[in-house]
Amino acid sequence: MCGITGYIGERDAYPIVINGLKRLEYRGYDSAGIMMYDGEKMNLSKTKGKVSDLELITTNNEKKRIGKIGIGHTRWATHGVPNDSNSHPHFSQSGDLVIVHNGIIENYDTIKKELISRGYKFQSDTDTEVLVNLIEEVKKNEGCKLGKAVQLALTNVIGAYAIAVFDKTKPNELVVARLGSPIAIGVGKNNEEFFIASDASPFIEYTKDALYLEDGELAIIKKGRGIKVRQIDNDKPIDPKIQELKLSLDQIEKGGYDHFMLKEIYEQPKAITDTYRGRMLADQGIIRMAGVDDNISKFLNADRIIIIACGTSWHAGLVGEYLLEDMARIPVEVEYASEFRYRNPIITPKDVVIAISQSGETADTLAAIKLAKSKGAFVFGVCNVVGSSIARETHAGAYTHAGPEIGVASTKAFTTQITLLTLISLKLAQEKGTLSKTAVNTYLQTMQQIPNQVEKLLKIDPLVQEIASVYKDATNCLYLGRGFNFPVALEGALKLKEISYIHAEGYPAAEMKHGPIALIDENMPVFVIATRKGHYEKVVSNIQEIKSRSGKIIAIVTEGDETVKEIADHVIEIPETEEALTPLLTTIPFQLLSYHIAVMLNKNVDQPRNLAKSVTVE
Ligand code: G6P
Repeated sequence: MCGITGYIGERDAYPIVINGLKRLEYRGYDSAGIMMYDGEKMNLSKTKGKVSDLELITTNNEKKRIGKIGIGHTRWATHGVPNDSNSHPHFSQSGDLVIVHNGIIENYDTIKKELISRGYKFQSDTDTEVLVNLIEEVKKNEGCKLGKAVQLALTNVIGAYAIAVFDKTKPNELVVARLGSPIAIGVGKNNEEFFIASDASPFIEYTKDALYLEDGELAIIKKGRGIKVRQIDNDKPIDPKIQELKLSLDQIEKGGYDHFMLKEIYEQPKAITDTYRGRMLADQGIIRMAGVDDNISKFLNADRIIIIACGTSWHAGLVGEYLLEDMARIPVEVEYASEFRYRNPIITPKDVVIAISQSGETADTLAAIKLAKSKGAFVFGVCNVVGSSIARETHAGAYTHAGPEIGVASTKAFTTQITLLTLISLKLAQEKGTLSKTAVNTYLQTMQQIPNQVEKLLKIDPLVQEIASVYKDATNCLYLGRGFNFPVALEGALKLKEISYIHAEGYPAAEMKHGPIALIDENMPVFVIATRKGHYEKVVSNIQEIKSRSGKIIAIVTEGDETVKEIADHVIEIPETEEALTPLLTTIPFQLLSYHIAVMLNKNVDQPRNLAKSVTVE
């Protein structure tokens, strides 16, 4: 996820674009750049770091701020580490075209090789520079205008994008297009000026008239003339539907949601898809992840896998243990990074360590990685933030590609970490032959349905709100789960603690009888995961035990379950899937529940007291 913004009109473009970038920084902030067209030349400024770092460059150089046309970008790295040359905007080889891009071009490598054979040279490692040169090559070969060239180039592209392209030989227009990533166009009076941005926040004070492109659409924006929209794949003209914005600035940045946490919960269908996109070819039974493929012998010869992480990432690691042992039959240990680093653990060069971290900056995880490396272990990172310290410190790794997570309580990071761990487990199972070809294929096909199932599950929000209103004043809660869903119980309890400050404990359902059952009375809500395939009868017995002690039961069950419905006070149904994949679904109601309880209690959902998103101290 990146932020893009631009302006074409009669005002000075610089303040509009730079302030727009600051508003879009929530979308990514590892590097930033701006191109200003002064009527003759395109002046480029870009740098690793935040928009404020970019401003340091432009503030002292007036030339870089002149012009009535500008485009800017704040980056969330996907291809290529965050550095100056990988920052956007990117020029084409001739220097005539310039582009900003939000998204991922999956087949960039194939296109890049073709362009190299035609004499193109690249200044960066990005997929974006490949795209702008593809547009240039199409424009040259077809002798067409920019709009057509962008359209033709995009028909050769697999992936997701929102792009803005400018051609200095036709300086009265901007071309934008989208597939899978958002783009809004702000329309000034009499078509005298236009604004473009990933959301409307950069132009809200200039115009309330906005056009949101739909997936597969391209717009040619001409200063003084207007906007022409067409479909990319069939050239069909579309009537531009300009709407009046009614949202406030704050609402726009949060995509219309009240909080970043809610937005991130709702982003999960896309985030999960982005995690497996290009890595899992379900129809062909192929799983490919460069970090694993290039080091496959390390994984296959490992005596054991040690997973190290903190917080929510540690819970994802626990799910990883169940997945890896069940599917790939490799012994796994899961450790809190903070304990591991100080307890003089036995580590050998035959250990593979998987470090999981959303931020990639957690001090304890980083220290544990350094310790494991010093003992000769191979260390593999599962991070969300590209180019983060953990991503750089590990020998190899795979990014979750969840996009920036702003809410302190982790949501989409958790489900995307589990998605990635599932892919790694299936890949190793495939290589080791511990799962049959049919079983792997079934998992891959089932996995592909998860984003739609999450989408469907999110529609239960009103039911969860109702449940939240019943239990919001509880002072203690218990979360129970077994097998793959035991870590989900821990994560559910953590979510509630973090943002509503209600004391909650997660337990393996069967452990209840060894202590927590003493706490059960009519004031104790117990959230139980009782999906059909996961030790169902045993969990039903646990539910009976709670019921007979007057505890309140809120159960997560598989669609169509009748047995638990009769005993529980409330049930939330999740769609049917493979047992190993249920954590990707069962976790969603718990996220929503914590969110609504915290809102009802008037707590600061996105920035809970005493907590930090990235814990860079011991
Ligand atoms: C903090 C955050 C948690 C997160 C944990 C680990 O405590 O508040 O949400 O799970 O750190 O962070 P990491 O970035 O390493 O996943």
